[in-house]
Amino acid sequence: MSALFSPIKLRGLALPNRIMVAPMCQYSAVNGEANDWHFTHINTFALSGAAMFCIEATHVEAIGRITPGCLGLWNDATEAALKPIIASVRKHSRTAVAMQLAHAGRKGSSHVPWDGGQQIPLAEGGWQTEGPSAVPHKEGELPPLALDAPGLARVRAAFVAAAKRANRLGLDALEMHSAHGYLLHQFLSPIANKRTDQYGGSLQNRMRYPLEVFDAIREVFPADKPIGVKLSTTDWVEGGWDLAQSIEYAKELKKRGADWIDASSGGVSPLQKIPLSPGYQVPFAKSLKEAVGVNTMAVGLITEAKQAEEIVASGKADMVALARGMLYDPRWGWHAAAELGGQVEAPPQYWRSQPSTQKALFGETRFGTR
Ligand SMILES: Cc1cc2nc3c(=O)[nH]c(=O)nc-3n(C[C@H](O)[C@H](O)[C@H](O)COP(=O)(O)O)c2cc1C
Repeated sequence: MSALFSPIKLRGLALPNRIMVAPMCQYSAVNGEANDWHFTHINTFALSGAAMFCIEATHVEAIGRITPGCLGLWNDATEAALKPIIASVRKHSRTAVAMQLAHAGRKGSSHVPWDGGQQIPLAEGGWQTEGPSAVPHKEGELPPLALDAPGLARVRAAFVAAAKRANRLGLDALEMHSAHGYLLHQFLSPIANKRTDQYGGSLQNRMRYPLEVFDAIREVFPADKPIGVKLSTTDWVEGGWDLAQSIEYAKELKKRGADWIDASSGGVSPLQKIPLSPGYQVPFAKSLKEAVGVNTMAVGLITEAKQAEEIVASGKADMVALARGMLYDPRWGWHAAAELGGQVEAPPQYWRSQPSTQKALFGETRFGTR
């Protein structure tokens, strides 16, 4: 009996296995609107065998985008662009669809990674970013404007509006992006947050804004639908955000009803030194689970079926999220099921692919039942 292929319930959402396709920016939207690339990408991974697919960082306002190509959900046009894609997924897959709600803060106005990822100057079509404090991510960059009270209220309201739109699109879950050096992480980390008001200084104060945003989206998203939080458990920089603070943050989030913590790391400072190795962030998921008793998702260099199985079976995390491993093998879930003796759903068009040595890879399949 595979632990990875055992079911889990998050509020009213029943998942048949413990695998999520991690959110992955595609930098391919126009004016925040999804298009044929997203149609192909999302539909491909809805057939991966993962129980849940998380739509990439979806920005709640235009200036909150990392790049001009980032996906958004801030107006009727961005909502309408996603609608046929979700409809197609529902027709051909029973994968749960989550969406990561995001705001880049001071890391906005950047070139897409394949164009170098540097800040785009205002004169070249960039935009003035905002953050907790007027401190740039990298030396020499145009600093963000420090958000004032009306600005904080505006961004919070943008998260709320996007959460409502996500629900209207029929999405099953949300993940609040509080990691990788983007806006909510900028508030948490003393490296980016130099405020002297109630949103800066003590840990309590630095957590205040991300927790307010969480409360605000939790309030408007249906009570039977889960909301998780992705966080950077450490900045990998001396004097920055760390695991001890993450535990306090996760306690507060759990109290407020967070359904999972997706334990990532880094992103707030170019000075970070990350000791990469297979499953290098799994110990963070384990520590959060032990200290807080919250559901955790392990992410980061999880690529092998047996590795994922061990993480879940040993109780280090409740679920695993895969990004690059899925891009490399978009049927990762099928292959993991074959290796571990699990079952996945597959569309009937593909049933003949099942290896003759594999007796029951494909579970009972009924599409179009939603
Ligand atoms: C192409 C690409 C885009 C990504 N975009 C996002 C994103 O939108 N939101 C996020 O939280 N992480 C993003 N990540 C990070 C992944 O979700 C994941 O945390 C990280 O890649 C480690 O997992 P992996 O080793 O399985 O790739 C991205 C990673 C890749 C490779």
